[in-house]
Amino acid sequence: MNLLILNARLITPERILTGYSLLIEKTKIKKIMPPGRSGGLKKKGYILLDVRGDYVAPGLIDIHIQGYKGHDVWEKRPYSPRDMSRKLLLSGTTSYLATTHYDEGVINNIIRSLPGQSREESEILGLHLEGPFINPRRLGMIPGRSIRKFSREFFYEHIAPVSKRIKLMTIAPELEGAAALIRELKRSGTFISMGHSRAGYQEAIDGFNLGISQVTHIFNAMEPLHHREPNAITAALLDPRIYVQVIADGIHLHPAVLNMILKLKGPDRIILITDAVKAAGFKKGVFFNDGLKVKLEHGAVRGPDGSLAGSSLTLLEAVKNMMKFTSVSLKDAFKMATFVPASSIRIQKKKGEISPGKDADLIILDHNLKLKKVVKSGEVFNVKKN
Ligand SMILES: [Fe+2]
Repeated sequence: MNLLILNARLITPERILTGYSLLIEKTKIKKIMPPGRSGGLKKKGYILLDVRGDYVAPGLIDIHIQGYKGHDVWEKRPYSPRDMSRKLLLSGTTSYLATTHYDEGVINNIIRSLPGQSREESEILGLHLEGPFINPRRLGMIPGRSIRKFSREFFYEHIAPVSKRIKLMTIAPELEGAAALIRELKRSGTFISMGHSRAGYQEAIDGFNLGISQVTHIFNAMEPLHHREPNAITAALLDPRIYVQVIADGIHLHPAVLNMILKLKGPDRIILITDAVKAAGFKKGVFFNDGLKVKLEHGAVRGPDGSLAGSSLTLLEAVKNMMKFTSVSLKDAFKMATFVPASSIRIQKKKGEISPGKDADLIILDHNLKLKKVVKSGEVFNVKKN
């Protein structure tokens, strides 16, 4: 299908382009045309979509999400992650990393779900594994049974066979064997994030120098910032190479802390994530995260001991929250949920930006940033009112 989108306000990483048209051929963006340049094409058999001045942004990319709207990656049925994908697409997230703690059954179920994904689904780009090599004293809601000590034997037997599918792995760099682990992961093309960790300042810097390139849900499941003892958070905020994952729900990070992160890192190193679980998309209720009973109330998802157990956020809400809580511009807020996450796992040549040759994954929003339509691989889906 060839599609011509007319009268769009395109959100690009650099600027907002008003009155532009967008030509899509099959699954790719073919051409971007300034106002008044699309006339001839109207006759040539393209399906026309006049968006009358609405925003058109790249589809959102969530590199840390476990579940959405009643579904999650932990359901034990074959292909169950794709039930989540179908719902997620209509929230504006057009691709994601299926995120889980280490569980071989779950990992294999996700991998089995990858071939044959359809355009009606948010695209699973691969896995984000939180563990198994994380600090047992900073588990958060990760089950203790999923933790392993690093050894080459374990790695070659259990991780290496699936490492091509693991796009991102969260590790604790202070643990024994971390240097060898980082080397192995780099060799298999897996990006490495520091998280669920008690790393100190120097341990974090050593990890960055070895190849850790981002931090998982910064401030959460880490040692808190201390003014006499700089730590992993200090190192991450100060090192310009390092991306930081931010949960902008106003609960995991206070709005003042969001401002601090924005000031120190800037929009090019902030990755908005949801860390969402199946309670996301609902207002209230009791759910089970892989067997763990959690309660959604006042926007927070908490386990039996009151600790946060993921979020109920959508990535589009995260974008809007950043604009509400900080002075970030519209284009930068979107960049942190599109181009920056894509760059952090080096898929920015395919996704994360409206530019010729890239995948036609787009979202169409009105002037209040209410989602109206989603375009996945060139196909248009209407978003029904909830
Ligand atoms: Fe986590």
